[in-house]
Amino acid sequence: DESRQLVVAVDGPSGSGKSTISRRVAQALDARYLDTGAMYRAVTFAVLRDGVDLQDADKITAVAEGVRLGIGTDPLDPHISIDGVAVDREIRGPEVTQAVSAVSAVPAVRTILVAQQRAIIAASVRIVVEGRDIGTVVAPDADLKVYLTASADERARRRSSENATSHAATAADLARRDRLDSTRAADPLRQADDAVVLDTTTLGIDEVVERLQRMLEKVTA
Ligand code: DC
Repeated sequence: DESRQLVVAVDGPSGSGKSTISRRVAQALDARYLDTGAMYRAVTFAVLRDGVDLQDADKITAVAEGVRLGIGTDPLDPHISIDGVAVDREIRGPEVTQAVSAVSAVPAVRTILVAQQRAIIAASVRIVVEGRDIGTVVAPDADLKVYLTASADERARRRSSENATSHAATAADLARRDRLDSTRAADPLRQADDAVVLDTTTLGIDEVVERLQRMLEKVTA
């Protein structure tokens, strides 16, 4: 049935392969792609730009309320802008990466962004959504929930090759973010009870994408 909505939730820690795999699956499905991490990163960029103290939850919330995020959901060319200005490159920098866990731990920030994420999902016929709390909070009724993992060492290896930083520094930063993202009170990184868990440490991207496509064929049959 072409008119039936299809939502795929992909959660997991950084370096688990979420973005690459989510975009590939979205392309294969001719679906939209929503990178919720980019939304937390964009708010963090605005918080840093405005010189807001990372301990000040009220000021951080005011920034999140005040910015207008523009989110492009083409899996071949996703985009994010703040008040009409593209910030795709800026949100991947070390300053934002360092501060994003603090910003995304503020409950009011999550309330604002989750509402925007749900509106984007509701407006899409087919969509693949990646993040930390998609299967548990944002889209608990998703048709397929995937939880991607990989060993800490492999995740750090992938990230350090992307960022050209040392393996040790990347591993330490990933461990710090994993801890903050999994232990925060508001919607921590958590595997949904009904998620399919895939460990990508040794699986290639093609293999993971193929497995998910096979699962989706069953869901949509
Ligand atoms: O996926 P990413 O590394 O771009 O995400 C950046 C940060 O945003 C991550 O450290 C935790 C936070 N995040 C979140 O709290 N909830 C989401 N749904 C997505 C990301």
